[in-house]
Amino acid sequence: MTRNVIVTGGAGYIGSHACKALRAAGYVPVTFDNLSTGWEDAVKFGPFEQGDLLDRVRLDQVFAKYQPVAVMHFAAFSQVGESMKDPGKYWRNNVIGSLTLIEAAVAAGCMNFVFSSTCATYGDQDNVVLDEDSVQLPINSYGASKRAIEDILENFEQAYGLNSVIFRYFNVAGGDPEAEVGEFHQPETHLIPLMLDAISGKRAALTIFGTDYDTPDGTCIRDYVHVCDLVDAHVLGLKWLEDGKGSRVFNLGTGKGFSVREVIDHSRAVTNQEVPYVEGGRRPGDCTKLVSGSERAITELGWRPDRSNLAQMIGDAWRWHQNGHYEK
Ligand code: UFG
Repeated sequence: MTRNVIVTGGAGYIGSHACKALRAAGYVPVTFDNLSTGWEDAVKFGPFEQGDLLDRVRLDQVFAKYQPVAVMHFAAFSQVGESMKDPGKYWRNNVIGSLTLIEAAVAAGCMNFVFSSTCATYGDQDNVVLDEDSVQLPINSYGASKRAIEDILENFEQAYGLNSVIFRYFNVAGGDPEAEVGEFHQPETHLIPLMLDAISGKRAALTIFGTDYDTPDGTCIRDYVHVCDLVDAHVLGLKWLEDGKGSRVFNLGTGKGFSVREVIDHSRAVTNQEVPYVEGGRRPGDCTKLVSGSERAITELGWRPDRSNLAQMIGDAWRWHQNGHYEK
């Protein structure tokens, strides 16, 4: 029997990798995406349905057409800096859009829901390893919007029995080792692709956002996880729901933090080229340090984040960077 999964944001960076993993696991990934930041070229592993999360009629059509066994919800605006300047965009699209999707799923009787949340829901808790029971105190509108969706999912479980697996991502990086899909944002805001742009001369230099943080080298620390490991966890999360194990929250990170300067050092080693950079001021909304307590996904889901080392993430991103891109 065909097992369709609605993948919102399937034309984006993480969603497109998820579609590849879902297809490999025997599901049919149905991409639902408004192409506001995604790329139709990235939809390679199943059908494409263009639509907007705020369009309930369109959502109802897609649920009726595919009768999905689950939803994987990636579609969101996800830039911390932008969320500070334009919070309404984040509350409208991320929160109202997700609520519309969740209501459509429940109305269609699709009661398994996998949700992309973020470590940005934890906020700035210095020198703490953040596990799933840590208090959630977001310091930016992006994190606040994702925390609100987590609350909606909890309430919909209480009211209607909707089962959800919530993944709180740390910093997702790298790409498909076969480079069928990869990271391609316009404009790009993420550290590793910007660094590779600077190395290849596509931009003059990387700016380090802040060198006066309370960290050993003064730059922010993040926990980087390979996108292929991340989407593998989603397939495990889907199986968890199909096995009737109920709602659960999982962090997805490695438990190891790297500063911006350490990422620069690794990029230099992997590409064997200098990284042109300048030192700039802090970016509003940035936390000092975000490192995952990552045991739960490993022990309960059987997740094995084997590819999540910086050398492999930067190497896979570099291969894609040199050859891959999408066009509108
Ligand atoms: N950085 C720079 N220069 C740049 C870009 C980034 O120094 O040009 C720094 C940032 O200040 C930060 C680190 O590199 O310390 C990583 O920045 P990214 O923009 O790559 O990632 P973020 O940590 O800001 O955001 C990512 C995801 C969000 C998620 C967040 C949680 O994009 O969706 O992780 O930290 F919420």
